[in-house]
Amino acid sequence: MSEHRATRAAQRPLSLALPVVAVVAASLLAGCGKQSAVDHEVTASAIQPVAKLEVVMQKVAPGARTGEEIYKSVCTSCHAAGALGAPKTGDAGDWAPRLGKGLNALVASVTNGLGAMPPKGGGSDLTDTEVVRATAYLANTAGASFSEPAVE
Ligand code: HEC
Repeated sequence: MSEHRATRAAQRPLSLALPVVAVVAASLLAGCGKQSAVDHEVTASAIQPVAKLEVVMQKVAPGARTGEEIYKSVCTSCHAAGALGAPKTGDAGDWAPRLGKGLNALVASVTNGLGAMPPKGGGSDLTDTEVVRATAYLANTAGASFSEPAVE
């Protein structure tokens, strides 16, 4: 009798513990599965805007833009089609009377604005060097051979 009681007492914790362990394990596993799926999604969506932002930041970081980048973002709106009487990009005839002024005078026109062209061509955050780069780039499309200050 006492032997029987001892066996039952020893079995009881085991019979209780097994299902508890199983339930805990199952819920842990389920939780793990769910968590890692959410983590991937969250990680992907959290990284994406940062990655995009870095690309954009590189392109617009003031001071570090090339003449071509500035031309494409600021100057093209008027100069590509010759809007508002702007000398057309790549049009040697349009530019011939202007190129003779030299790079410094052209840069001064862009910096201060000229006729329908607003100061800095409307790119108010352009640094002085960036204005030189953009002006050289644009003039060079029409046959000038100004040297564009390098981007460090
Ligand atoms: C809103 C339209 C517009 C934008 C944007 C614009 N320009 Fe112009 N640009 C003009 C017009 C119009 C002229 C002719 C002005 C005149 O002679 O009356 C001109 C003339 C020039 C000239 C000749 C200046 C001279 O002394 O003869 C240069 C160089 C020039 N632009 C460079 C640029 C650069 C570089 C940018 C971008 C940073 C730019 N422009 C953006 C309209 C624009």
